[in-house]
Amino acid sequence: MFFPPPSYENVLKQITYACSRYSVPACLLEQLDHLREFMEALARQEIPRRAPDFGDIDIIESDEIERAIRSARSRTQRKHGMWSMVDSTWTRDLADWMGQRICLEVMAGAGWLAKALSAHGLNLIATDFDARAKWGKRPAVYPVKPLDALAAIACHPEAEVLLVSWPPYADPVIESLAEAWGTERPIVYIGEACGGCTATEPFCAQLQVTDRLIIPRWPGFHDEVLMGNYLLP
Ligand SMILES: C[S@@+](CC[C@H](N)C(=O)[O-])C[C@H]1O[C@@H](n2cnc3c(N)ncnc32)[C@H](O)[C@@H]1O
Repeated sequence: MFFPPPSYENVLKQITYACSRYSVPACLLEQLDHLREFMEALARQEIPRRAPDFGDIDIIESDEIERAIRSARSRTQRKHGMWSMVDSTWTRDLADWMGQRICLEVMAGAGWLAKALSAHGLNLIATDFDARAKWGKRPAVYPVKPLDALAAIACHPEAEVLLVSWPPYADPVIESLAEAWGTERPIVYIGEACGGCTATEPFCAQLQVTDRLIIPRWPGFHDEVLMGNYLLP
């Protein structure tokens, strides 16, 4: 059964209510403030300056706070089509790492990452096969070429870095992609490492990581930016 994502008004109301609970730890209150600003920016289709980070918070002892964050995550992913929490702060570091290289992003979704990186001056081509029926309707925030990931690699031999964020869990297409891309050129993978909810075990095991960036996270998720080269099986 398909449930629509929570409305913007409802998400903001839940965040406000969660903040009004007394005994909310100061560190959580600060992240809830960032969450409100984050949701406001997404509603304007702007890249948020700073995403909330719930990565260090192990236990949320309040049902209201947990509900507010869950609603915000549901809206971010299902309405806005943003899976890794993109902001203009950490994407600056990623853009610096990429430098002048031509970047091909596959499975780019609504194009949030592409929008943030191109605002930092990156030379980037964003692609996605745009399976709307499966991933929900989402307004694109950046021109995303409607291309299957394997076709995108074949169509863009000029690309120097492959970027992929939150490739679908357990879908072996990520392994075919990495094999087609080859071992020489770097891959930037945003997702969870081995045992996580993105990509596949063989892909994660065969990505030889050279650099990493820790990014803001939703509670219970461990996604990060892993840069490296793919070792063929
Ligand atoms: C979980 S979403 C991640 C979206 C975006 N990268 C992000 O991190 O917000 C996965 C995306 O992969 C796309 N996708 C899945 N399989 C694909 C394929 N074989 N070729 C191109 N896009 C694909 C879907 O359309 C969807 O937009």
